[in-house]
Amino acid sequence: MYALIRSLLFRLEAEQAHAVAMLGARVLAACAVPLLRRLLPVRHPALEQRRLGLLFPGPVGLAAGLDKDARAWPLWEALGFGFCEIGSVSARPCAGNPRPRLFRLPADQALVNRLGLPSDGAMAVAARLQGPRRVPLGINVAKTHDPALCGLAAIEDFCHSYRCLAPRADYVTLNVSCPNTPDGRTFEEPAALEALLSGLAPARREAPVPLLLKLSPPAGPPDLGHLAELLAVARAFDVAGLVIANTTPARDGLRTPAEQVRRLGPGGLSGPPLAARAEALLRAAYRLSDGRLTLIGVGGIDSAEAAYRRLRAGASLLQLYTALVYHGPGLVRSIHRGLLALVRRDGLDHVAQAVGLDA
Ligand SMILES: Cc1cc2nc3c(=O)[nH]c(=O)nc-3n(C[C@H](O)[C@H](O)[C@H](O)COP(=O)(O)O)c2cc1C
Repeated sequence: MYALIRSLLFRLEAEQAHAVAMLGARVLAACAVPLLRRLLPVRHPALEQRRLGLLFPGPVGLAAGLDKDARAWPLWEALGFGFCEIGSVSARPCAGNPRPRLFRLPADQALVNRLGLPSDGAMAVAARLQGPRRVPLGINVAKTHDPALCGLAAIEDFCHSYRCLAPRADYVTLNVSCPNTPDGRTFEEPAALEALLSGLAPARREAPVPLLLKLSPPAGPPDLGHLAELLAVARAFDVAGLVIANTTPARDGLRTPAEQVRRLGPGGLSGPPLAARAEALLRAAYRLSDGRLTLIGVGGIDSAEAAYRRLRAGASLLQLYTALVYHGPGLVRSIHRGLLALVRRDGLDHVAQAVGLDA
């Protein structure tokens, strides 16, 4: 069924296809949630975990970027996701970069995007997040895409988003790693992260929810010294977890011809070519944090085997985006079912017992 939908969607330019898919998602969110909820989610005690003080019915969640403005959020749980992360949301509304800015690389089952953080803005998104939540809802916030916003103004921008959105969230992720903006990486430096977390502290006291940081994948082997410094800052400010990882600007190891890749221009690469980098950073973070942080593994997960591998590398929870484009939403169900089989194969009773076994 999805093969047919995909062949139609893939005739459209990638961002148009995304708009059509989101329109479909909004229609389903409005009228088919009870039916889908009866058919699709795989619910099993061996998949349930309590992390961040929340109950996650399954480890596979929706990654940030697909439902940036929370337009279809009640749908994700009905499709079987164990949690969903909407955003990135920025404080002010923003149109993002000029189009075209989203591209498919079918030979690699990958995407390249330089969307530049388009957002309806924190107030508009908060207004959409009414109603009961059946699975944890994460809200990913990023600095408004405006290179002039830096220093204290950038911190204030994050604070504004946090104040608007944290009261509607089960957890908040700070996107300190967006590679789409020239200024997007600054908060991954330990000193800058410390300034951000210190500036955010009053807003966190007003609306205390678990706070996570989303990191970018390493260019080469993970820099353990840098990571240890980041983790020390995270610990000092009571950060509850890390989302590992965001997209990469790297282009190595692709099957798509180099000239074709070059013509697409800059942007963040996602999908299977990102998997090894994301996994290496995850493994390093797991070892350095002694299992004290909740780690969400994301980047190139496209099967139960890939998901299981990421759990064994140290992730308690997982997220997907690009694989949904290539395999459709049925993938969530097939990964949860596959995980149950893999856990049993290895003589384990629960997915949590697999976490970190290969770290
Ligand atoms: C089109 C697109 C837009 C994205 N937008 C965001 C975003 O706004 N905020 C964010 O933290 N990550 C964003 N991401 C990154 C994803 O959340 C995820 O970290 C990355 O794509 C790797 O996972 P995947 O290989 O399963 O796609 C985006 C990814 C894609 C493909």
